Amino acid sequence: MSVSADIHALVASEAARRRTFAIISHPDAGKTTLTEKFLLYGGAVVEAGAVKARAGRRSARSDWMEMEQERGISITSTVMQFEYRDHVINLLDTPGHRDFSEDTYRVLSAADAAVMVLDVAKGIESQTLKLFEVCRARNIPIITFLNKYDRPGRDPLELLDEIESQINLKPTPITWPVGIPGDFRGVIDRRDSSFVKFSRTARGTRAAAEEVVDPQRAALEEGDVFQAALEGVQLLDEVGAVYDRESFLAGESSPLFVGSALTNFGVRHLLDAIMDMAPAPSPRIDATGEPRAIDSAFSGFVFKIQANIDRFHRDHLAFVRVCSGRFERGMVVTHGPSGRPFATKYATSVFGAERDTIEEAYPGDVVGLVNASDLRIGDTLYVGEPVVFPPIPTFAPELFATVRPRDTSRFKQFRSGLAQLEREGVVQVLRDPDGDPVPTVAAVGRMQFEVFSHRLEHEFGATVDLKETAYKMARRTDAATAQQLRSLGGVKVLTRSDGELLALFENPYWLARLERDHPDWRLDHILVDAAPA
Ligand code: G4P
Repeated sequence: MSVSADIHALVASEAARRRTFAIISHPDAGKTTLTEKFLLYGGAVVEAGAVKARAGRRSARSDWMEMEQERGISITSTVMQFEYRDHVINLLDTPGHRDFSEDTYRVLSAADAAVMVLDVAKGIESQTLKLFEVCRARNIPIITFLNKYDRPGRDPLELLDEIESQINLKPTPITWPVGIPGDFRGVIDRRDSSFVKFSRTARGTRAAAEEVVDPQRAALEEGDVFQAALEGVQLLDEVGAVYDRESFLAGESSPLFVGSALTNFGVRHLLDAIMDMAPAPSPRIDATGEPRAIDSAFSGFVFKIQANIDRFHRDHLAFVRVCSGRFERGMVVTHGPSGRPFATKYATSVFGAERDTIEEAYPGDVVGLVNASDLRIGDTLYVGEPVVFPPIPTFAPELFATVRPRDTSRFKQFRSGLAQLEREGVVQVLRDPDGDPVPTVAAVGRMQFEVFSHRLEHEFGATVDLKETAYKMARRTDAATAQQLRSLGGVKVLTRSDGELLALFENPYWLARLERDHPDWRLDHILVDAAPA
């Protein structure tokens, strides 16, 4: 085989063993615990608990961390890479705090699949719903994990109904629990009808002990609960809740697993499913609708920028998702928007906050480029045949605040900070070209405002007054509709820097009425411009 045939084959086989996914969940559903258990099963940590320990260590490192530490939260999302069953897993971590930001959404643009973690006592919660909508807009396949089954909770059949009716995703359980929530004995694996009995390890620090028990013994040992589980399985068969690869990959149905991340019950089943069911990286569709073959020359796009992580080195770390080809550290790539060469001498992998120099990467992997201050979110990088990937969508902001420098003599610093932070995607900046010169900043989570003010003050020396307004939602509109809207109260039309007109509304009911009464007005949901998957 020629060298070039070799490299094509290598890239194709490396891509095929990659699984790049994110976990979506509501705070407290168990995402951090599950992440730790994945790392434990992947051998990336020896004992569960290491993720939090790492997070603690990094807190000493920069002023970001001061804020994180004070509040006990993680502001920045990270990527964890580990091997499991000869696969390479890239787990993209979405920030796990109560208040999220656009970063949380953007991370999903780099994922090929998502694991949706639901607390068995709670079902679908608000943040799961929002994140789910982003997955749906991109048709990202979703595997569902019903977590905390070791604790009292709701009837799992009721939860299946809730998933189907609330988000129109058809759950197809692969495992079904034996025992009620709070009395979790094990699961029936519907693929081969085996009963897998779980037993606990001390605080779940090691893999859960599993034993395959034959049905006769299970019926004897587990009694009525085993019978009830069999009836549950029969019911699922009857209603056709059966795994279907095509509808799963289309984001219409979701294989479902039941478990307890805390005690490790069901974690292996879930991880195996990610290897066996979740898709490997596939050719990314470019802005003209053409796929870029996996084994063509290197290409990737920036989905997240993390700036000034270390205050002593004003660095910008750009997270690039590799879409095709082999990335090698030191290679010179073309920066799509400027057409300029970009040297990748300082390329790192980012595991939690630990950085290691990375030598090579393949489709599905994430590379951290250091000193990447010229790169912006959504930028394409490539080698060889030029390619432009579609922009990463901006998301419908729900919070709006006016912002002005407290000290007017710092106006210059304020202006350049505002421009920089907008470029990084920390907040969206809206202006009224014909009216009030005070800009409005927009976000999906309040934390974005906090990070914005903090950075303006500490990095640009401009303390600001941020005043939240009563607006609660935004719709994309056009000039004709804007003219109609301007004559009404409770609505404001502002221009975003990309030229889009956004109409802000205070009252959702009133907006709903306008939409009903004026079907000819343009009032688009902002999420619909999601990039094709
Ligand atoms: P998050 O990242 O989604 O916010 O959730 P996290 O994993 O931090 O879990 C939230 C709480 O739920 C934690 O308890 C965690 O131990 C618990 N938990 C997670 N999975 C399970 C499970 O399967 N069963 C049970 N019973 N509990 C689970 P905490 O008391 O808030 O924190 P900690 O002191 O245990 O760390």
